[in-house]
Amino acid sequence: MRKPFIAANWKMNTNSKSAVELATGVVKAVDGIDNVDVAACPPFVYLQSVIEAVGSDSKLAIGAQDIFYEGNGAFTGEISAEMLTDLKVKYVITGHSERRHVIGESDELINKKTHAALDAGLLPILCVGELLEERESGKTNEVVSDQVKKGLAGFTADQALKITIAYEPVWAIGTGKTATSAQAQEVHAMIRELLAQMYDAQTADQMIIQYGGSAKPENTKELMSCADVDGLLVGGAGLKADSFGEMIKITSELYASL
Ligand code: 13P
Repeated sequence: MRKPFIAANWKMNTNSKSAVELATGVVKAVDGIDNVDVAACPPFVYLQSVIEAVGSDSKLAIGAQDIFYEGNGAFTGEISAEMLTDLKVKYVITGHSERRHVIGESDELINKKTHAALDAGLLPILCVGELLEERESGKTNEVVSDQVKKGLAGFTADQALKITIAYEPVWAIGTGKTATSAQAQEVHAMIRELLAQMYDAQTADQMIIQYGGSAKPENTKELMSCADVDGLLVGGAGLKADSFGEMIKITSELYASL
């Protein structure tokens, strides 16, 4: 059985005080839970204070929301993998839909970032997902497959095992519209089948595929009950320690009963 993995993407939220409060609140909320991996991804500027507050070996692992693919040099405004590992950051999100569609990142750039992250020992969370018009025109599988193939280009099976895929339908992000569990399961199963073709059945069976898009305590059990949904990438509901903690507890209890 795959170990569930629930991560909060704080996006461009919190401040120096509330970031530390939120992280320490999550640590308290997940105390005693060992059957779920948990992470939070604060803004870059609060990574250090959050890691200092929770400790680098805390059950709450810390991730960054983005990375640049070069090691160092004249890249104004960018943050390298080495800078993140220096702070003991564990995970890094690549290809989030807001970076794809607001900032304009390409699959090629996302692939380079994912390689830089993994090469430095960070664990990437590679996000994929279709726009509303792509879903409505029946292109979901095509779009998501293309993003998975391009995002994972050049990775071996052993490397792929260290990468979490987050399926986040863009129309469900921050809109309150969650994909139904059937919609989520259908795409997750398609991604796992694709991973089996790209690598092998055993690798595909071990890889973690998270769902993201208006995930909250009320829909956690239903989403996490899907055979191929192994975790959640949580935006809004991850900004409150009690709601995020509740999602982790629900998942822990569900998995304990399986
Ligand atoms: P919401 O949970 O706010 O819809 O955001 C999802 C997301 O984009 C997580 O990366």
